[in-house]
Amino acid sequence: MTETVHPVTDEWAKRAFVDNARYEEMYQRSVADPDGFWAEQAKSLDWIKPFTKVKNTSFDAPDVSIKWFEDGELNVSANCTDRHLATRGDQTAILWEPDDPLTEGRTITYRELHENVCRLANVLKSHGVQKGDRVTIYMPMIPEVAYAMLACARIGAIHSVVFAGFSAEALAGRIEDCRSGYVITADEGRRGGRTVPLKVNTDEAVTIAEAAGARVNHVIVVKHTGADVAMKDGRDVWYHEVIDGTSADCPAEPMNAEDPLFILYTSGSTGKPKGVLHTTGGYLLYASMTHRMVFDYHDGDIYWCAADVGWVTGHSYIVYGPLANGALSVMFEGVPTWPTPSRIWEVVDKHKINILYTAPTALRALMGAGDDHVTKTSRASLRLLGSVGEPINPEAWEWYYRVVGDSRCPIVDTWWQTETGGIMITPLPGATALKAGSATRPFFGVKPALVDADGKFIEGAGSGNLVITDSWPGQMRSVYGDHERFVQTYFSAYAGLYFTGDGCRRDEDGYYWITGRVDDVINVSGHRMGTAEVESALVAHPKVSEAAVVGYPHDIKGQGIYAYVTLMVGEEPSDELQKELKQWVRKEIGPIAQPDLIHFTPGLPKTRSGKIMRRILRKVAANEFDTLGDTSTLADPGVVNDLVEARKNNG
Ligand code: WT7
Repeated sequence: MTETVHPVTDEWAKRAFVDNARYEEMYQRSVADPDGFWAEQAKSLDWIKPFTKVKNTSFDAPDVSIKWFEDGELNVSANCTDRHLATRGDQTAILWEPDDPLTEGRTITYRELHENVCRLANVLKSHGVQKGDRVTIYMPMIPEVAYAMLACARIGAIHSVVFAGFSAEALAGRIEDCRSGYVITADEGRRGGRTVPLKVNTDEAVTIAEAAGARVNHVIVVKHTGADVAMKDGRDVWYHEVIDGTSADCPAEPMNAEDPLFILYTSGSTGKPKGVLHTTGGYLLYASMTHRMVFDYHDGDIYWCAADVGWVTGHSYIVYGPLANGALSVMFEGVPTWPTPSRIWEVVDKHKINILYTAPTALRALMGAGDDHVTKTSRASLRLLGSVGEPINPEAWEWYYRVVGDSRCPIVDTWWQTETGGIMITPLPGATALKAGSATRPFFGVKPALVDADGKFIEGAGSGNLVITDSWPGQMRSVYGDHERFVQTYFSAYAGLYFTGDGCRRDEDGYYWITGRVDDVINVSGHRMGTAEVESALVAHPKVSEAAVVGYPHDIKGQGIYAYVTLMVGEEPSDELQKELKQWVRKEIGPIAQPDLIHFTPGLPKTRSGKIMRRILRKVAANEFDTLGDTSTLADPGVVNDLVEARKNNG
C-alpha cells in the first residue's frame, strides 16, 4: 500500500501548544536534560511540599528502581478537584451520558465533584479504611466510579479498579491478590440495554476470596438500576445512606510522590494477571501532561474518551489526566453500537464533542455497519480524533479520517500500555505529519529503540522488538507484592532496557509502526488477554486434558481467541462440549476471554522435551499453512498434518 502523508495544517500549527519546531526543541531538551525538563513541567501540579530531587532511576536487574520527585509531597485528589474550585467551581467536570439515550444524563461541576469525593473519603475513613489500604472498585461507568477513585486518592488508600465485565472468579482473584479489605460496587451495571449483576458477582467473589484467606470488611453499594439485591448485615452498606449526612470537609492527605496511587491488573504472557503499581507524583504529571499536549486540550474544549475506567485508558484519560487539567470529561455508560451504530456520532452531536478518543475495534465494527450511520449525523464539532489499544489498520484509519472526520481532523494514534501510565508514542496534532497506521514519534522524555533477538540495537530504518531505554515519570514502579516478577518480566529480556512486548518497524522518517505483541499476549478488541490465563481456565474443566491458546487475525476484533483442546481419555468432542467450554471460560474470566474457535485435537505439536510449539499453532490458526517453518524437531511431526487438515475442514 502506498503511504499517504497528511501534513499538519496551518490552522493546527498555530492553534496547538506545540508546533513542529517546538516539538524538536522540547524533545531534545527532554532527553538531554530530563531533570531540568521534568522539574519545569512538574510546576503544572500543586505540590504540598516541593521536591528537591527529580529523577532517580535504574533499569539494571536485579536492582531495578524507579523514583521520580521522591522527596516531594502532593495529593492527587486535591490536584483534580480543590485547586480548580476558585477558578472553575461551576464548570462541568464530568458530563455523564447514560446507556439508554432516552434517559436523563448528569452534569457534575468541579464543586460537586469535590463535595462528593470528600464525603465518600470520610465514609471510607469512618469504615476503617486507612492510608495504604487496598480498595477494590467494581463499578459501572457512572460518575460514582470517579468519586470512588478520587476518594481513595484523597486519603491515601490504593484503589484497584476491576473491569465490570470480569466474572466473580476474576474479581475474587484480584481481591485476594492485593488483600483488599473493601469493595465499592453497584447493584447492577448497564451496557447496551442489558444489565450486569455486579452485586451478585461481588457476593460470590467475596465468598471465593475469603475461602482463600482474604477478608473483606465492607462492601459499599451504589443504587444504580434499583434492582433488588441482598445486603449482608454488618458488611454491606448503601452508598446513598452512608453519604447522607456525612461531612464534605475532608482534608487531603499529604502523600509522598512515590506513595502508591493504584493497582491495575493486566495480563502477561505467563501466570495470573499482574498488579501493575502506579505511584502518585510522576503518574499524575505524565497523565495530565500527555492529556494536555496530545489532545491539545484548551479550556472550554469538550473531550470524550470512550474507554472504560476498568482499563488504564479510563484511569489516565477519563479521570486523572483530564481532571488534573480542569477539563470537561465526558463519561459514557453504553456501547458504540447500541441502540444503533449511530450512537457515538449522536453523542458527539448532542454534546458538541471536540475531541474523541476511541479504539480501532469500535471503528472497524462501525465501518462494517455502513457509512450512512455516520453521514446522517453532523459531527461538525469534532476537531481531533484519537485511537488507542491496538494497531489501527490503514483502512480503518482512512475511514476514521475521511468519513468520521470529514478529512478535517487529525488523528492521534497513541501507543502505550497499562505499564507506561500514559501515552508514549504519538503524533502531536500541531507538530506531526500523519501516516495512516503509524503511531509516529515519541512523546517528550520517551526514548524508544529497536533491538534484534540478540539484543543488538537496530539503527535507522528497520524492524525489531520495541524497548524503552530510559525511565519516564508515568512508568509503573513494580508488580504489587512481587518486585522480582516486575524485574523478570520487563528488564530481563534485554539488559538495562524496558521491554514492551511489542514488535515494531521504524521507517526512514523515524516514524514508529507498532506491529503487535511478540509474546504470548493477545489483543482482543483492544483488551489484553494472556493465552496462559485462558489455557488455565480451560484445563480447569474436568473433561479437558490439555489446552493451547493462540491469537488469530479477526476482522473486527483485531485478534480472535483460538483454543486447541485435548480431551481426557474417554471424552468425545461435540458441539455441546464446545458451547460448554466457551461458557466455562466466560465464567472463569469474563465474556472478553471466550474463545472464538475451539479446535479439538488428539495431540499438540511438541518438541521432544515436551514444549508446545506455539509458532506452528499460530500459523495453523491463521490459515498460513505454507509458512509453518521447520517441524523436524517435533516429537511427532504427523500431528501438524492432522491439525492443518482439521483447520481446512473447519473453514
Ligand atoms: C498493548 C497494551 C494503551 C492503553 C490501552 C491498552 C497494544 C496499545 C496501541 C497502538 C498499536 C497498541 C500494544 C501494547 N497497543 N495502543 N496505538 N498501536 N498497538 O493497554 O491493555 O496494557 O495493552 O496494546 O500491543 O503493548 P494494554
